[in-house]
Amino acid sequence: MGISTIGVVGAGQMGSGIAQVAATAGIEVVLQDVSPDGLTKAKSRIEQSLLKLCEKGKLSAADVNSAKQRIQTTQHLEDLSRADLVIEAASENPQLKYDIFRKLDSICRDEVILSTNTSSISITVIAAQTRRPDRVVGMHFMNPVPLMKLVEVIRGLRTSGATFQAVRSVGEKMGKDCIESKDFPGFVVNRVLMPMINEACYALFEGLASAQDIDNAMKLGTNQPMGPLALADFIGLDTCMAILNVMHEGLGDPKYRPCPLLKQYVAAGLLGKKAGQGFYKYAV
Ligand code: CAA
Repeated sequence: MGISTIGVVGAGQMGSGIAQVAATAGIEVVLQDVSPDGLTKAKSRIEQSLLKLCEKGKLSAADVNSAKQRIQTTQHLEDLSRADLVIEAASENPQLKYDIFRKLDSICRDEVILSTNTSSISITVIAAQTRRPDRVVGMHFMNPVPLMKLVEVIRGLRTSGATFQAVRSVGEKMGKDCIESKDFPGFVVNRVLMPMINEACYALFEGLASAQDIDNAMKLGTNQPMGPLALADFIGLDTCMAILNVMHEGLGDPKYRPCPLLKQYVAAGLLGKKAGQGFYKYAV
C-alpha cells in the first residue's frame, strides 16, 4: 500500500515535529488537534524549525515552502479519513489514547495502519481497542523530532510483519533510523535512559555532587550532549516520573522506583524547562 498522506493526532511538541519531518519528506499531512490554539502554535513551531534548518543549509527556501504547504490542520478527527497511515501523538493518558483509537478504527479505511508515539503505554493494549490489532504499531520518535535520528518501532503482540515493515519504510523515508523493540514497559530507549536519569537524581538527593557537576561528569566523561539532569528537565520531570512508574509497576522491579527527590520536584510543580524551573532555572 502506498502511503502518500499521513494523519497526525495531537499538535504538541511531538505531533508538530512528526508532521514537519513527514512533510519535509514529501508526504501530505493532516495535523489534528482539538485545540485551535494548539494548532496555531504548532504551525509557528514548525515554521521556526524549518527556517532554522534552512539557515543551516539543510533545506532550501523552496523545500521550506513546499513542506509548509503539505501540512493541513483540522480540529476534526473525521478529517483523518483520507490518511493512509495515522500517527497518534496526543497526551500520554491511557484512557484518552484508547478513546482516540476506538474512533480512528471507525473513521479510517480497513487497510490503514494506526500507530502511536506513546513512550510508555502498552501497544498491545492500545491495539486491543480496535478491530485491527495486526495493523496497530508503536512509532516512538525522540524529541526534538527534526533533529533526532531515531524511531523505535514497537511490535504489539498481534502486530503483523507487514505492518512493521510498512512503518519502518515510512520512518526511513522521513530520514530516520529505526530499531525494533518488543512491547514491554519503557521499550528500549526509556528502559535504559530512565534508570540513568533516576540514578542522577539519587546522586543529587544523596549530596554526592551538585547538579552541575553530575551533568558535567556525564557530558565531559561520556560525551553526552546534555547531562542527565538537564535532559530530565528537557523531557519534563513529570514525564520522567510517569515513565518510571509504568516501568516500576509493569516490570515489578524496585530498581525502577522513582527517586524521592524527583517526586518532590514534581509535587512542587518544578517540572523542568516547560515550567521555567526543574533542576535548573530557565527563561520562560
Ligand atoms: N528544529 C530545528 N533546529 C533546532 C531545533 C528544532 N526543533 N531544536 C534545536 N535546534 C537548533 C538550535 O536552534 C541550535 O541552532 P544554532 O546552532 O544555530 O544555535 C542547534 O539546534 C543546537 O541547539 P542548542 O544550541 O539549543 O543546544 P544543543 O547544541 O545542546 O542541541 C539538542 C540541542 C539537539 C536537543 C541536543 O542537546 C541533544 O541532542 N540533546 C539530547 C536530546 C535527547 O536525548 N532527546 C531524546 C529524549 S528522550 C525522548 O524523547 C523519548 C522519551 O520518551 C522521553
